[in-house]
Amino acid sequence: MGHKSVAIDGPSGAGKSTLARQAAKALGFLYVDTGAIYRTLALLALERGVDPADPAAVQALLPQADIRLAYNSSDGLQHMYLCGRDVTEDIRRPEVSRAASSVSAIQAVRDFLMETQRELARQHDVIMDGRDIGTVVLPQADVKIFLTASPEARARRRCDELAQRGTPQDLETVLAEIVERDRRDTTRAAAPLRQAEDAVLVDTTELDLAESLQALLDAVRGELNA
Ligand code: DC
Repeated sequence: MGHKSVAIDGPSGAGKSTLARQAAKALGFLYVDTGAIYRTLALLALERGVDPADPAAVQALLPQADIRLAYNSSDGLQHMYLCGRDVTEDIRRPEVSRAASSVSAIQAVRDFLMETQRELARQHDVIMDGRDIGTVVLPQADVKIFLTASPEARARRRCDELAQRGTPQDLETVLAEIVERDRRDTTRAAAPLRQAEDAVLVDTTELDLAESLQALLDAVRGELNA
């Protein structure tokens, strides 16, 4: 029998990774964070001095992009390896976030990373989160969720997170960045962010973390049993 797959797409800051990871644990599925794969390629570009927004230069890097995922046996977390080196922490740096946004807009990059993502879904029951999982990567997914929240709610959560990390920023700046990122993600030519027609909408604007997880699990279980 084939493996089950759950595709979770949505804008940045909607809580996808936290919620998808917890939902995967509850269901016994493998959690796949596809943004981390784009981030790892972005790190390679930065380390090689390649402009992440230059499609030809980034494409020329692809044959050297030895990108692997591995799951830590003790914490079960997804670790990213670039040419054999564990870069799980490095890919969270802000300059890598910016570079990932650029490299992910290049069609050749998306084509190159597609097979890695599909292979994981062939080998495991997965909850995969990203921007185009339900629309492009796994159009036959058993369950598709579009997880979102209002820009204001996402900005407030991001501000709380930054304050907790000791790097506070004001709400207006963070909100403006989110609105700009949404615009870029939804209007880019290559795999723009959009809700698949058969995706279930989960809006967490009015929900806290526990309520959001419950809403997500209810939606996933409802669809898996449908
Ligand atoms: O979810 P994230 O912030 O880690 O994603 C990093 C970048 O990669 C972000 O700019 C969106 C992009 N991305 C994408 O284009 N497609 C995916 N499936 C996942 C992420």
